[in-house]
Amino acid sequence: MEFKDLVQQRRSAHNFEAGFKVDENTWNDLLEYVRYTPSGYNAQPWQFQLLQTEADITALHKICLNQDIIKTSGNVVVLIGDTDFGKNESDRILAEWQAYRNLTPEKAAGLKSSLEKERETWKKREMVIRNASLAAMTFLYAAEDLGLAACPMMGVRQLDLKKYLDLADNQLPIIVIALGKSGGSEGTRLPRKSVEEINRSVDNLK
Ligand SMILES: Cc1cc2nc3c(=O)[nH]c(=O)nc-3n(C[C@H](O)[C@H](O)[C@H](O)COP(=O)(O)O)c2cc1C
Repeated sequence: MEFKDLVQQRRSAHNFEAGFKVDENTWNDLLEYVRYTPSGYNAQPWQFQLLQTEADITALHKICLNQDIIKTSGNVVVLIGDTDFGKNESDRILAEWQAYRNLTPEKAAGLKSSLEKERETWKKREMVIRNASLAAMTFLYAAEDLGLAACPMMGVRQLDLKKYLDLADNQLPIIVIALGKSGGSEGTRLPRKSVEEINRSVDNLK
C-alpha cells in the first residue's frame, strides 16, 4: 500500500474483534518498525510493554478510566520513556557516535557534556515526551501496515499506571495503546483542519 493511503486509512479503533491476542512474532514485527524512529542523539529512550492477561486487562481498565477498549481490544501497550536518557545511556550513545561518525575531540566532548548535563524535571519530561511520541506514531502506522487496529489513549491515571507497572522514577508512561483486530467499521472520520488552517503562513514560500 502507498504510504499516503496508509496514513489516510489509519483510524483510532473503538471496535475490536473479541478474543484476539497479539502473538510474539507479530509483537516483534511491530517493534521492528519502531526501531527506525528518529530520536535526539539517536538515544531511542523508549520501551514498549505488552499486557494481555485477564488480571492486567482488568487492572488497566480501571487505570484507564474504565474505557471499554482496554477490555475489548484484548491487548494493551504501554510506551515507557526514560526521562534520564542522556545521562543513563551517555556511554553507549557517545561510543556509537564515535564509532560511526568522525567526531573531533571537541565535538565528542560537547556531545558528552550535552548528554550528561543536569536538567530540570520539566525539561527532561518534555524531551522524552517529544522523542517517544514519534515512536508512538511509528507504532500506530506499523499496526495499520500489519493489519491490526489500534487506539492511542491519554485517558489514563498516570500515577496509578506507574505504580501498577512498578516503574522507576525515570520511567515515564508516555501513552497507552489499545491494540487488536478490527471488529468492523469505525464510522465516519471526524473532520480534519484544512491545509490552509494548519499552515501558519505562506508569506515566505517561494
Ligand atoms: C495523544 C492522544 C490521546 C488520545 N486519547 C484517547 C483516549 O483516551 N480514548 C480514546 O478513545 N481515544 C483517544 N484518542 C484518539 C482520538 O480521539 C483520535 O485520534 C481522534 O479523534 C482522531 O481520530 P482518528 O485517529 O481515527 O483519525 C487519543 C489520540 C491521541 C493522539
